[in-house]
Amino acid sequence: PGPRGGQGRDRRGEDGPGCAVGHSEAGSGAGPPTSRAGRYPHAMTLAVYPGSFDPITTGHLDVVARALTLFDRVVVGIAHNAAKSGHHLFDAETRLSLARQALAQLPGAEVDLVPGLLADYCRGRGATAIVKGLRNGTDLDAEVPMALLNRDLGGPETVFLAAAPAHAHVSSSLVKDVARHGGDVSALVPPVVAAALRQELGQD
Ligand code: PNS
Repeated sequence: PGPRGGQGRDRRGEDGPGCAVGHSEAGSGAGPPTSRAGRYPHAMTLAVYPGSFDPITTGHLDVVARALTLFDRVVVGIAHNAAKSGHHLFDAETRLSLARQALAQLPGAEVDLVPGLLADYCRGRGATAIVKGLRNGTDLDAEVPMALLNRDLGGPETVFLAAAPAHAHVSSSLVKDVARHGGDVSALVPPVVAAALRQELGQD
């Protein structure tokens, strides 16, 4: 296999519903590229939206809602970021629980833990795409290498959604900083997260 090769990628076209069409096949020159919808008109599309989600914010919720206009299901994947190891405010189970509560009313949304490599998780779920939100050029610079690496590792394509202006300044890090200093974060996070922040920071 070439640099983008990997058996996982090339096999996916044969995996049936829920799996992306390998781009080596779509671009093989044997005819016009066949769209995924053309090949699997009834297949469910599933996107994985990975991140630390420490905690989930209104900006994240907006990305999930918008991704659901493109995909049948969106899995918010609570994944491990080695660079943030030991720096989380909430443990992974709490982040999972908060995200589940925040997304409970959104049909098609799901929350799960991503225990290892994101690309492996996506393959296991038969994911159509990885979804990421982009707030600015700094996000883009960080995300493009990850998107390419995830492809090299046999994961699906990454689809970037531009953050809505109302959410472009919202980040989990800023939310935590404001909350730690007693500021009001109620417009930046769902109510269940605001309550959890107060409790975690001993402000109740
Ligand atoms: O919200 P974050 O912390 O910026 O998200 C980064 C995250 C968790 C998506 C990234 O670190 C990740 O994908 N971790 C899972 C392990 C993995 O697959 N690492 C290689 C990524 S190219």
